Amino acid sequence: MGKKLVENVVEPESGRQRLMAEERFANELAALREQDRFERPGGWLLSPRSVRDFICGTSKPLKTAGRESIPILRKFFGDDSLVERAIVTLATDRGLMLIGEPGTAKSLLSELLAAAISGVSHLTIQGSAATTEDQIRYSWNYALLVAKGPSRESLVPAPLYQGMTQGKLVRFEEITRCPLEVQDVIVPILSERLMLIPELEGANGMIHARPGFNVIATANTRDRGVNEMSAALKRRFNFETVRPIPSIADELELVQREVERQLQGLKIDVEVDRDVTELLVQTFHELRTGKTVEGASVQQPSSVLSTAEAVSVAVSASLHAKFYGSGKLEPSEIVEHLVGSAVKEPDDRKALGTYFDVNVKGRAEQNELWKRYYAARKKLGK
Ligand SMILES: Nc1ncnc2c1ncn2[C@@H]1O[C@H](COP(=O)(O)OP(=O)(O)OP(=O)(O)O)[C@@H](O)[C@H]1O
Ligand SMILES: [Mg+2]
Repeated sequence: MGKKLVENVVEPESGRQRLMAEERFANELAALREQDRFERPGGWLLSPRSVRDFICGTSKPLKTAGRESIPILRKFFGDDSLVERAIVTLATDRGLMLIGEPGTAKSLLSELLAAAISGVSHLTIQGSAATTEDQIRYSWNYALLVAKGPSRESLVPAPLYQGMTQGKLVRFEEITRCPLEVQDVIVPILSERLMLIPELEGANGMIHARPGFNVIATANTRDRGVNEMSAALKRRFNFETVRPIPSIADELELVQREVERQLQGLKIDVEVDRDVTELLVQTFHELRTGKTVEGASVQQPSSVLSTAEAVSVAVSASLHAKFYGSGKLEPSEIVEHLVGSAVKEPDDRKALGTYFDVNVKGRAEQNELWKRYYAARKKLGK
């Protein structure tokens, strides 16, 4: 079995399926804050260097005052210069727009940035066709409004109002799914750093953004919309394109770590051999890029084969191994669960079948593990 990656997870018996980044990595963030010797932009809890270290990891563990060593693990795999540019943008008066294919960790990166810079990542607007202005700015508590008239007290603050008044980062997920007029609500706020509440008089109706406030938006390039954003909105953001993880080794490390973490969270003990996970990661990588590691071309399925999906295939296959198999993840269980994520369009099954008949078969002659992988191909179905 491959080297176990020990993560600094603070996973109490919270009774929750998922912890926010600031909870999950609370001890890393505390150690970074304690050791941070660099200047911090106004309203930030960490310096830009420490934010980068939190996201990209450090080569050595951090020694805290209590002499405890806290490893700072890499959390986002890919372009570190993109991470630096994203951090720099958040210190300016422009918002950050993360765009890219589904499952490339745009939401993860935005959550990590908010957790490191503001200490909270929950000031989040989930964009959809049904998102309204109320859910972004504020709404009214009608009982109080009737009893006391319009006042700040009768306001029900939404994430943008909270982020501005608390000087924190606000996340706007899937912004392009919102109607254009709703997207445009943030245009004056990003430029003037001021929210006007017409129902309130004078200075009371002016909400000024405190230092530390900014917006991180994400948008999926497979969805319609990035091109339809208004020019005014586009102009107020710096765009960064997040791409799939380029290296198989990095993707393998991430998938292995995530699978072990998720199985641990589920309290399910399965032996997950890194060599078996590698079959999956290599398959995803080759189908996604349309090229084998040896340089031969491969028919690409039209479905997006994201790292996020590789993780979910590996977790399902591992659970399968536990519930119906030997308790050790086998190549056949990977094949069984591949179809559900790699085949979403009619032609995808053919592309996957061809990959097995040509590329997997070729390797099966020389390698025992690939041989077992190939032997399970009938599970792909017709
Ligand atoms: N470059 C990467 N670094 C770290 N984790 C990654 C990376 N790419 C994908 N992942 C994994 O994928 C998971 C899901 O990513 P996330 O939901 O952030 O993607 P997304 O780009 O927001 O997708 P969508 O467009 O569908 O919303 C992450 O939690 C992580 O496990
Ligand atoms: Mg997302």
